[in-house]
Amino acid sequence: MAEAVAEEAKAVQGIEVEPSYYVEPETIGSFDAIIVGTPTYHHDTTVDIKRLFEEAASQNVALKGKIAAAFGSYGWSGEAPKLVLEIMKNRFEMQTSEPPLLIRYTPDQAGLEKCRDFGKRIAERLIHAT
Ligand SMILES: Cc1cc2nc3c(=O)[nH]c(=O)nc-3n(C[C@H](O)[C@H](O)[C@H](O)COP(=O)(O)O)c2cc1C
Repeated sequence: MAEAVAEEAKAVQGIEVEPSYYVEPETIGSFDAIIVGTPTYHHDTTVDIKRLFEEAASQNVALKGKIAAAFGSYGWSGEAPKLVLEIMKNRFEMQTSEPPLLIRYTPDQAGLEKCRDFGKRIAERLIHAT
């Protein structure tokens, strides 16, 4: 999913994408937009994602006004991307792009196309915001 999101985002002129499996909290302040991919386990996001934002908050990493989006694979309830968007909106005052993109289990071709469209939409929003 992340690769498909990144693929079309970086196809937008003027956009650079840095896909990362793991990021240090202090580095996320250097991006203009943050797109988080998170699966839903036990109605929640992952410990790593929570820790990332907890540590960013404790280090006062400034994310205010930056564009935020979230996507994820899920099975039956799919809360995680919405929870992450709430953190980015309420705790960091980021401009969230709603709704999050949810794909049930593994994306098929149509699901991957939704991921590409999602990446393109966020990238275009960023271009128009700058
Ligand atoms: C232990 C476990 C707990 C899960 N809990 C949820 C859940 O609460 N809600 C949901 O929508 N899906 C749940 N799922 C399904 C996963 O979100 C789904 O399998 C998803 O595709 C996993 O993505 P990943 O392969 O990228 O980790 C759970 C799966 C497992 C194995």
